[in-house]
Amino acid sequence: MEIADGIEEILLDAQQIAHRVAALGTQISADYQGLPLLIVVVLKGAMVFAADLMRQISVPLQVDFVEASSYGEETETSGMVRVGRDVETDVSQFHVLLVEDIVDTGLTIRTIAEHLRARGALSVRICSLLDKPSRRRVEVSLDYLGFEIPDRFVVGYGLDYAQRFRQLPYVGIVRLE
Ligand code: PRP
Repeated sequence: MEIADGIEEILLDAQQIAHRVAALGTQISADYQGLPLLIVVVLKGAMVFAADLMRQISVPLQVDFVEASSYGEETETSGMVRVGRDVETDVSQFHVLLVEDIVDTGLTIRTIAEHLRARGALSVRICSLLDKPSRRRVEVSLDYLGFEIPDRFVVGYGLDYAQRFRQLPYVGIVRLE
C-alpha cells in the first residue's frame, strides 16, 4: 500500500482492520440474536467503520446517526459536549449499539450514551474501532473494541485531521509540521 502525503507511518493496514471488523461483527451478531438492534453511528468519523461493520452483522438491524460537538476550546477542561444532530428513531423500541471511530477523553461517547439512555433506549452499548486509554478523563466501558492505540494523532478510515484524510483505507499517524 502506497503511503499518502502527510502520513508518517501506517499503524493499522486495511487487512488488519478488515479482519478485526469481521470478528466484531460475528460477536455482535451472536450477542443481539432475537433483539431489536439499532446501530447509532457517531458522525462523522465513524461512518467508514460503521459501513464496514454493519455488513459483517448477520442479525436484522436499523441504522441512525448522531452528531456531537464540543463547546469550543473549553472542552478539555469543562467536559462540555452537546448533542447536535439527534436520532430520528424511537429508541425506546431498540437495543442501541453506538458506533464510534475513537474514544479519547471519553466525553463524547459518555454524553451520547447518557442522552440515549435518557430517551429510553432498552440498552446502550458502545463499539469503538480505536481506544486511546492514556487520554481518558471519564470512565467509559467499551463493550466492543477494535484496537487499543498509543497517544499518537491518527487519521484515515474515517478519522480526519482538519477534515482531511478520512478516505484513507488504513489508520495512519499524521505528520504534524
Ligand atoms: C472525534 C471522534 C469522537 C471524539 C472522541 O470526533 O470521532 O467522536 O472525537 O474524543 P473524546 O473521547 O475526547 O470525546 P470529532 O469531534 O473529531 O468529530 P468527527 O467525528 O466529525 O471528526
